[in-house]
Amino acid sequence: MEVVGRAAELAVIDSFLDTVSGGFATLVFEGEPGIGKTTLWAEAVRRGTERGYTVLSCRPTSAEATVSYTGVGDLLTSVEDDVYGALPALQRRALDGVLLRGETDGRAPDRRTVSVAVLSVLRALATSPVLVAVDDAQWLDRPSAAVLAFASRRLDGEPLGVVTVVRLSADANGVRTFDRDVAEHRRRAVPVSPMSLGALHVLLTARLGRPGCNAKPSSDLRADVSSKSSIMCSHAPARPAR
Ligand SMILES: Nc1ncnc2c1ncn2[C@@H]1O[C@H](COP(=O)(O)OP(=O)(O)OP(=O)(O)O)[C@@H](O)[C@H]1O
Ligand SMILES: [Mg+2]
Repeated sequence: MEVVGRAAELAVIDSFLDTVSGGFATLVFEGEPGIGKTTLWAEAVRRGTERGYTVLSCRPTSAEATVSYTGVGDLLTSVEDDVYGALPALQRRALDGVLLRGETDGRAPDRRTVSVAVLSVLRALATSPVLVAVDDAQWLDRPSAAVLAFASRRLDGEPLGVVTVVRLSADANGVRTFDRDVAEHRRRAVPVSPMSLGALHVLLTARLGRPGCNAKPSSDLRADVSSKSSIMCSHAPARPAR
């Protein structure tokens, strides 16, 4: 999907991806529900993929926020078997436990072993640029968040970037996402604000086929707008009824 407007944020994405090739960096899009965070996050993933970066991504949901290691499991699904094969046996077994595969003793994997194993996997992949992409980090399950925080505190010169989204809302106030301990010079937080009037106009015209908020919206768009009212129509000029 084409991103409308957001020139400044897209420039930040490009500069972030440039930075990643020189060492560890994180980029966080934060803002209220429906403001357009995931759109920017997905564009970062698209641009990273286009540059040939190895992309590991996950999109946690509130429904799975209490299910241990869902996030890490999703992040690791695209990792090739030979990367696991090169890990020390203890670490490989821990990841087998997280990924629910291979021979395990049925016990929950030890958090420190999983953390070290995930860091090993990230370092093994980072012989060329890697992008770890986590949408809605406020819903990342706690063990996964702890594992990613552990890795984030240790990554340094590796060409690895983390791009995340944090949804700020009344009930998410004070949430400490895994990226919060990253050194200031390696972390950039970008507040996502409402789209400009011009960009909204372009977006509505593209979605509705003709300009203005008085056009008849499709049922898809109406559903979208009702659940994600922030970016749409909040600035749309009122039109007199005919
Ligand atoms: N810059 C943009 N260009 C085109 N479409 C956009 C843009 N920003 C947002 N949208 C559209 O607006 C809707 C909401 O955007 P998005 O899902 O990115 O918001 P969000 O902040 O991630 O929402 P939530 O907090 O619910 O996860 C989507 O249908 C998306 O396609
Ligand atoms: Mg979103």
